[in-house]
Amino acid sequence: MFPIASSCKNSLLLIQQMLLNAQIDNNDVAKLEKTTGIQIHEVGRILDDIQDYHRGVYRHSLNVGYLAAQLAIRLGLSKQEVYIISIGALFHDIGKTRIPHSILDKPGKLGKDEWELIKEHPRIGFRLISQYDWAHQLEPMILLHHERLDGKGYYSVDPRKIPLSARMVSVADAFDAITSDRPYQKKENINNCWAEMERCSGTQFDPDLLRLFRSIIGDIDKNRVKHMPTW
Ligand SMILES: [Fe+2]
Ligand SMILES: [Fe+2]
Repeated sequence: MFPIASSCKNSLLLIQQMLLNAQIDNNDVAKLEKTTGIQIHEVGRILDDIQDYHRGVYRHSLNVGYLAAQLAIRLGLSKQEVYIISIGALFHDIGKTRIPHSILDKPGKLGKDEWELIKEHPRIGFRLISQYDWAHQLEPMILLHHERLDGKGYYSVDPRKIPLSARMVSVADAFDAITSDRPYQKKENINNCWAEMERCSGTQFDPDLLRLFRSIIGDIDKNRVKHMPTW
């Protein structure tokens, strides 16, 4: 069992639960902390900071972590890969902790400058996370999660340079965003969500990943509700 640092709120417990749901128990975590250098307490503290800054970004981060972890399992990835992808997905929007609340919570359409700033959040997140020596394992998920298969993402990155982990986070991120209430848009029902995502299959999303994600979402959605009792 992990001792729970007094500074931690419930982020650490939610991370442990997310990992357990991804078939990674406390013994596995102890080994993975050694092999990856990513300490679960540190992850908890960083997630607490996200929670302190913005409840909506925090909730979205947990959901995307959970969804990406489930996708990683169904892809048959190793425990180490599942661990890294879960934590990278948890931190994918960490850059938003440097975006003013007035922009994050703006109910209407963003102005040009506001939108330009929002588009910087992957780069900001990349810089924030680089201070940790284990960060290189997570960086593609943070920097490239808004890149697209047609090369028309935030930074127009060549699709051949978008690794699997970032493509996975992209699918989980979009699903959670579309099916959650956002300041500027009400959540969509699941059918509209799939219609929207299918429209972007092959241009925004990896079609194989989207197909797999869709095939498992029924289970994921049920578990997601169970997994997030505080919401
Ligand atoms: Fe993002
Ligand atoms: Fe996101």
